[in-house]
Amino acid sequence: MEQDLDRILYSESTILSRLDEIGWQLSQDYKGKNLTVVAIMNGSIMFMSDLLKRIIIPLQIDCWSISSYHGSKSTGNIKFRQHDIVDVKDRHVLLLDDILDSGLTLHTIKNKILAESNASSVKSCVLLSKKVKRIKDIEADYVGFEIENEFVVGYGLDYNEHYRNLPYIAVLKTL
Ligand code: IMP
Ligand code: MG
Repeated sequence: MEQDLDRILYSESTILSRLDEIGWQLSQDYKGKNLTVVAIMNGSIMFMSDLLKRIIIPLQIDCWSISSYHGSKSTGNIKFRQHDIVDVKDRHVLLLDDILDSGLTLHTIKNKILAESNASSVKSCVLLSKKVKRIKDIEADYVGFEIENEFVVGYGLDYNEHYRNLPYIAVLKTL
């Protein structure tokens, strides 16, 4: 796999140090609130598991599998793979996603929860945020790292479902 990579952007220890900070911040911000963490699968699998260990207040979790039809670009055509999603009425929802790019994914999911669930609040936390012009006017409330407009893989992030198991985040060689 390594031969497909251009360079490592963030080592596992760098990622975990940053998650220490975000976990501490979330523990402060959601103290005394009914928190439900909703992770968007599969991209946030490692991010979720490492971040949750660093949030030291009571919370509930749910994982949502969505399929979006990307090709080379986001289309915003997001479909939920499961019928039943956890009840978040009167709860504070924190969405976790691997990366914010065009904003179509986060925008669609956030609006769906706001419209359909009677949640007390809906915020988002992404591991990576690309410095690009968004198609949808949305920013994450918590961001691990801001990155340039490069395609990255590892630590949950994929290219055609490959590389998710790398323990670090790397830039893929341009094909
Ligand atoms: P958005 O809807 O354009 O904001 O894209 C979000 C989704 O696109 C993420 O959840 C990823 O699945 C995928 N994505 C965007 N950029 C990258 C990248 O650099 N590497 C891997 N996946 C990416
Ligand atoms: Mg993906």
